[in-house]
Amino acid sequence: MSTQSQLIDHFKKVCICRSVTGGTILKAIRGGCLSFEALRRQIRVGTGQCGAKRCREKIETQIRDYKDSLKTEAEDVERHRSS
Ligand code: FES
Repeated sequence: MSTQSQLIDHFKKVCICRSVTGGTILKAIRGGCLSFEALRRQIRVGTGQCGAKRCREKIETQIRDYKDSLKTEAEDVERHRSS
């Protein structure tokens, strides 16, 4: 965690109905929950009164950002190997 905004995102509640923070979601994503449904089953995000209307898009963005970061890391490793 390097920037102030990342720190804020870590502690900010993403799923307000269930009081689940961005950090908890990221930990579950890193643990292998790579879809909204997997996160829903594992940490119960999106199961609150709003029916995920307030959180689903943010959570899906978080999953997408994580997958993109993995791709970037893999590309960096590949670039490093071939140089
Ligand atoms: S904010 Fe996540 S279910 Fe309502």
